[in-house]
Amino acid sequence: MKEKEIKLDVNNMFADVIGKEHGIPKDEIDDYQDTANKIHEKIKKDRAKGKMGFMELPAQSEELISEIEEEVEKREGYENFVVIGIGGSALGNIALQTALNKPYYNLDSKKRNGNLKLFVPDNVDPVRLKSLLDSLDLEKTLFNVITKSGSTAETMSQFLIAREAVAKVVGEDNLSEHFIATTSKDSGYLKIIAERENFKTFYIPESVGGRFSVLSPVGLISAAFCGINIRELLKGAAAMAERASTANLRENPAYLNALLHYLAYNQGKTISVMMPYTHQLKDMADWYRQLWAESLGKELNRDKEVVNVGPTPAKSLGATDQHSQAQLYMEGPYDKIITFIEVENFDEEVEIPKIYEDIEGVNYLGGHSLNELIQTEKKATELALTKRNRLNQSIILPEVNEHTIGQLIYMLELQTAFAGELFNINAFNQPGVELGKNYTYGVLGRKGYGEMKKEYNTRAKKDNNWII
Ligand code: PA5
Repeated sequence: MKEKEIKLDVNNMFADVIGKEHGIPKDEIDDYQDTANKIHEKIKKDRAKGKMGFMELPAQSEELISEIEEEVEKREGYENFVVIGIGGSALGNIALQTALNKPYYNLDSKKRNGNLKLFVPDNVDPVRLKSLLDSLDLEKTLFNVITKSGSTAETMSQFLIAREAVAKVVGEDNLSEHFIATTSKDSGYLKIIAERENFKTFYIPESVGGRFSVLSPVGLISAAFCGINIRELLKGAAAMAERASTANLRENPAYLNALLHYLAYNQGKTISVMMPYTHQLKDMADWYRQLWAESLGKELNRDKEVVNVGPTPAKSLGATDQHSQAQLYMEGPYDKIITFIEVENFDEEVEIPKIYEDIEGVNYLGGHSLNELIQTEKKATELALTKRNRLNQSIILPEVNEHTIGQLIYMLELQTAFAGELFNINAFNQPGVELGKNYTYGVLGRKGYGEMKKEYNTRAKKDNNWII
């Protein structure tokens, strides 16, 4: 596998390109170098204290990687792999699969080459889960139940439903052949259940939060079962970790990208759109949306002051969304940064045939390729946005493979951690998400959440006049 570097092109973020009113003066980058140095030292100190678990993932132990690979080898005769998890315990699995396996992989045994089909129901939509369980041959299905807390209602309820369905087919005594558990080593109910049921268990390091966990067993297991080269993925992440080990803003793409988002946010560009020009990275944009939103959207800063801060991430897809959201990006409020993801070399080259050469308006397409078309559309949209003084930048992948995706993931994670420091907030907690979870626990009668139930039941009644 070729080990090529991904690049960050930020030319169109600057005042000398898109104008003083909306652009960022280049000097500001150097003005922030001292701040960057301080944050860099803080990150190093936090890492030394064991608080930056995601930074340790690229160099995970050979023991763990071999354990995952052995598990894949051992499980013969299966057809399907189902991930049961939500949020950070699901999105990375989906993103890796869409990025690194061919489209329609599940439908095509040649593309799968002996690997398992992947299903990630993610949501607790009753129709979706029932339909999945009804469609799969459960005798040939392996489930990975992923929850770091070991108690998330969505995950545990899906597990209970799947467990019952599988037990009916294979019998209570054979359950351990169909379930893997991925959870915390020292806490949570999934660990207790996994021990009781004798499920193979993988552990999520304590210091790695859900949305930063894709390079831990959370994302690696399903990837390995679907034929993705997890060693190359980690090598890519390690290559970016090395590149991003400098405090120098002009050399560290993660820090530079975080700073540009921060500066833009402070001048009202509060929406961060990720727009890959490849379908393969569409779910990577979804993963990024969670990473950026859950990490940076905070009520309190580190000094416990109310700041209600946080850029709003949005996902978009080129060229599809040129025919929908692009209108807003071009002419709507000046409140966005568009980050394109460009791919230089696609795995396939698709020629557009020369047919209807006498029909003007169609005949110019023949002889070009879809590759040329999508790349030209990206460059054209970039130019159009720049001409309209809209902040935009590009992450350029020489190709989409495990190595470049590893680089991209690590860059975005470190960028998020650095942005958290610039905003002076804790990027690693999620009190807002937990509040919603706690109301749910209360309403459904979980022990210890009686107060939440009371609060829910005494909530203000809705005025029916306004439900029309
Ligand atoms: O990033 C996070 O912490 C969250 O999105 C979690 O991943 C999500 O809430 C699921 O949590 P758990 O893995 O504990 O079930």
